[in-house]
Amino acid sequence: APPPDIATRVVRWQQAHGRHHLPWQNTRDPYRVWLSEIMLQQTQVATVLGYYERFLQRFPDVQALAAAPLDDVLGLWSGLGYYSRARNLHRCAQVVVGEYGGAFPQSVEQLAALPGIGRSTAGAIAAFCFGVRAPILDANVRRVLTRVLGFDGDLARPAQERLLWQQAEALLPQDDLHETMPRYTQGMMDLGAGICLPRRPACLLCPLHDPCVARREGEPERYPVRTRN
Ligand code: ADE
Repeated sequence: APPPDIATRVVRWQQAHGRHHLPWQNTRDPYRVWLSEIMLQQTQVATVLGYYERFLQRFPDVQALAAAPLDDVLGLWSGLGYYSRARNLHRCAQVVVGEYGGAFPQSVEQLAALPGIGRSTAGAIAAFCFGVRAPILDANVRRVLTRVLGFDGDLARPAQERLLWQQAEALLPQDDLHETMPRYTQGMMDLGAGICLPRRPACLLCPLHDPCVARREGEPERYPVRTRN
């Protein structure tokens, strides 16, 4: 049999060795997934855990959040920092209720047009909730991808960043997207958070050991390449 492709390796590894018990997993409710992704944009998992459940108890759905006074939202956010996230969260809830009847849109383009949702967060929501074949490219996943691919373009250059997005898309699963896209997306995040570390990556534990260009070159820490702007 031919060696499994990268997506297949990540999906199988996630199933066997990835994280499965984070409170925003095992749901396809876009409200819950969206809230977790916004909180996780600039805050560590361990910190988010304490805030996430409390927030959901006070605002169990997007209608409750949209109807709340901004000050209540900011109050529950206090301690998480980057308060523009909370303001955008509130505005986003109002747009989802006002423009979409309370149902998050499913396309990356529509999601990314909402307040506070960039391309990577849009990809995560679309993949986790709707099985859309959309890549993510947060800092952790960028590290995994540049190393696997041996992508040494300067990511400070928009043309190189675009090229990496294209290559990220080309690696996505092809089949059973409702099953594979959530697993693949979580698997890439889990690899970036636990295996493909900035320093001393645990290549011997990595499901991408064999195909990884950076591992073969012997200096994975040289990726990603980014000059100062
Ligand atoms: N960081 C961003 N999204 C995440 C997720 N779904 N699980 C763990 N860490 C994350």
